[in-house]
Amino acid sequence: MGFAEFAIGPAGGRTLNRSRAGDADTDTDLAAALVRLVPAGVLIGHRRIAMGDEHALLQAEAVSFARCAPKVRRRSGGARIVARELLRALGEPSAALPRSASGPPVWPSGIVGSMAHDDEVAVAAVARSGRIRSLGVDIEPADTLPRELVAIVATATERARYSAAVLESRILFCVKEAVFKALYPLCGLFLDFHDIEIEFDAGLARVRHGHSARIAFIEAPSVVALAVI
Ligand SMILES: CC(C)(COP(=O)(O)OP(=O)(O)OC[C@H]1O[C@@H](n2cnc3c(N)ncnc32)[C@H](O)[C@@H]1OP(=O)(O)O)[C@@H](O)C(=O)NCCC(=O)NCCS
Repeated sequence: MGFAEFAIGPAGGRTLNRSRAGDADTDTDLAAALVRLVPAGVLIGHRRIAMGDEHALLQAEAVSFARCAPKVRRRSGGARIVARELLRALGEPSAALPRSASGPPVWPSGIVGSMAHDDEVAVAAVARSGRIRSLGVDIEPADTLPRELVAIVATATERARYSAAVLESRILFCVKEAVFKALYPLCGLFLDFHDIEIEFDAGLARVRHGHSARIAFIEAPSVVALAVI
């Protein structure tokens, strides 16, 4: 397996490129793009999901995935491989990251984080809690959004504000899922897509009930969004 390399993001955050360029478990284009996502204090990393990643689930984690298909356990194991490497990079001991009954993973005391996976790639982001209260990350393939979902995902304001290229991509979908993941652990709110309005120019998501989150995204080689509260 490769070794950890760090790149400093433009805002001072860091991305963990798990392995050297060319290793099978990372995508160098994605690693380079992820650098742009992270603000100071946030670590982000990714991994190509591989056969056997399901065995990375620790006993305390595996119980909540016992009824899941091997493919689901593999994705969740891959995400936890990334998350544990990020914890080590923060100087924290390795830890089990079980899924809580309501969905979000349980992070060690003093740490906030988030995980996501599509069919091929797992991503995770972590930070020390304090100034950063919560993180949400999401990944989607860089495909078009099915046409029938455009009005479900985008509010009327967003449909008026953004180009067809944006509305028909998965960017708004991905950003709103990341915002939901950041907000849910703080206040347990179940959100609809129209409960969140994205202001890309301001890098801001405004959420019903007066909540807000800083947002950033990349659109290639995958769509990845990060929400920070
Ligand atoms: C949480 C949710 C967004 C996950 O999306 P997904 O595309 O199914 O899966 P992803 O790979 O992106 O993310 C899965 C990870 O999210 C995390 N997660 C799950 N539920 C979560 C929650 N309620 N809050 C924060 N994080 C959560 C977990 O780490 C999970 O990985 P794990 O099962 O390996 O632990 C989705 O399952 C959900 O509950 N949606 C309902 C709310 C919603 O989508 N509203 C519209 C957008 S605002």
